[in-house]
Amino acid sequence: MIVALNNKCNLTHEEFTEYLTQLNKIDCQSKLILIPSFCNISLANNCKFALASQNISSRNNGAYTGEVSAQQLKSFHVKYTLVGHSERREYQKETLTELNEKVKRAFENSITPILCVGETKEERENNQVKEVIEKEITSAIKDLTEEEKQQLIIAYEPIWSIGTGVIPTIEEIEEVFNMIKTQLPTSKILYGGSANEKNISILKESKLIDGYLLGGLSLKPKELKEFLTILEN
Ligand code: PGA
Repeated sequence: MIVALNNKCNLTHEEFTEYLTQLNKIDCQSKLILIPSFCNISLANNCKFALASQNISSRNNGAYTGEVSAQQLKSFHVKYTLVGHSERREYQKETLTELNEKVKRAFENSITPILCVGETKEERENNQVKEVIEKEITSAIKDLTEEEKQQLIIAYEPIWSIGTGVIPTIEEIEEVFNMIKTQLPTSKILYGGSANEKNISILKESKLIDGYLLGGLSLKPKELKEFLTILEN
């Protein structure tokens, strides 16, 4: 199981140092991927988990103020990157073309993209889930090689579930996962959106889920440990 910890825009230098001490005490069989803010990445260089970034520039090094390139991330031993988290699609207005470029820059630098996809509540109510997710995936994988498509990780995160405490039913999750598998039969697929130590016993009933992308829970080492214990037993 993959368990990816998306810290989002949280934790100061001091808070992150303390957090890392707590996190390093966790023993588990799952593959933990830590996704700190850019400013904390160098502090996590020696931790025992794989490192990911929350974003990656669509451009190579150059005159792009405020951007962080794939080459720079690679030099900090970043192995994965989120691409197209719904918060970036919404607040940073990331476009489908730009996200395809980000996926390509990642692969060019041996960084595995974790492509986030998911529908809004309104899109679900209007029966547009398939259309939305297919479009997000088709545009992101444009021009990728077959090998890259196999390596790409997908995180299905229904937007109405992120940070709300509401999770979809197993049937709803599996319907989307099966849809994704028609486009990317061998890619690993994570579930994200309000997954926590209280609902993991329900979520783990699905045999299709290859892992989880955790936001809120990533910031609580004690509850995260409980989550991992339930997940693995
Ligand atoms: P959440 O966030 O676990 O707090 O719902 C998940 C995410 O946005 O990746």
